[in-house]
Amino acid sequence: MGQPILIAPSILSADFARLADEVAAVERAGADWLHIDVMDGHFVPNLTVGPPIVEALKKVTKLPLDVHLMITNADAFIPEFAAAGADYLTVHVEACPHLHRTIQSIKERGVKAGVTLNPATPIASLQEILADVDLVLIMSVNPGFGGQKFIPSVLNKVTAARAILDRLKSPALLEVDGGIKVDNASQVIAAGATVLVAGSAIFSQRDYVGTIAALRAAGTTAVSSTPHASAHR
Ligand code: DX5
Ligand code: ZN
Repeated sequence: MGQPILIAPSILSADFARLADEVAAVERAGADWLHIDVMDGHFVPNLTVGPPIVEALKKVTKLPLDVHLMITNADAFIPEFAAAGADYLTVHVEACPHLHRTIQSIKERGVKAGVTLNPATPIASLQEILADVDLVLIMSVNPGFGGQKFIPSVLNKVTAARAILDRLKSPALLEVDGGIKVDNASQVIAAGATVLVAGSAIFSQRDYVGTIAALRAAGTTAVSSTPHASAHR
């Protein structure tokens, strides 16, 4: 049996003027995690939110806070994000020259540690750190903005990451972020992802319940299209 599929709405596409209501709505609609995109205007060409928003959201939701740091100086901010209530802190391998130290710093604070890769960064760059992380996040768009188009070649990297994690018997979760919609979610799950981030796919629809359910149900389609299951079709 595989791991359950977790859906992590990204607040980047929510209505920021009604953020608490939006979070409550996705929580009621069945979201498993809340994905919070932190951007610094240096590592990525956009600015978003910092620790005060994480702290504020921690008070209004029971959902685990999945904080994606798209910032150049993650080490300097890990203490603040941990204190603010992040459950997962994910850093970019491209932005962390002392990645092992950074991951240890996250874990020392009792926070789950994730590592992520831009689309053009090879999976091999994670080889020496995989045994130490709780989460691997594969970016399926170039980070910086919501609403971009899924880059299909990234599916190969998801498949490769799944194979490596399985070979290591690693319990780390495999998450994919960027351009995930109801119509491509089954491919992402079939490649081995178990956590799907979705921003615009969820928040651009009025029906959060239906969209989250459809994203999760894509897992069923993915399973039934595997070679073993196809014998029944
Ligand atoms: C992109 C962010 C994503 C983004 C996803 O830099 O890391 O989390 O919000 O948005 P969609 O699902 O709209 O691509
Ligand atoms: Zn993200």
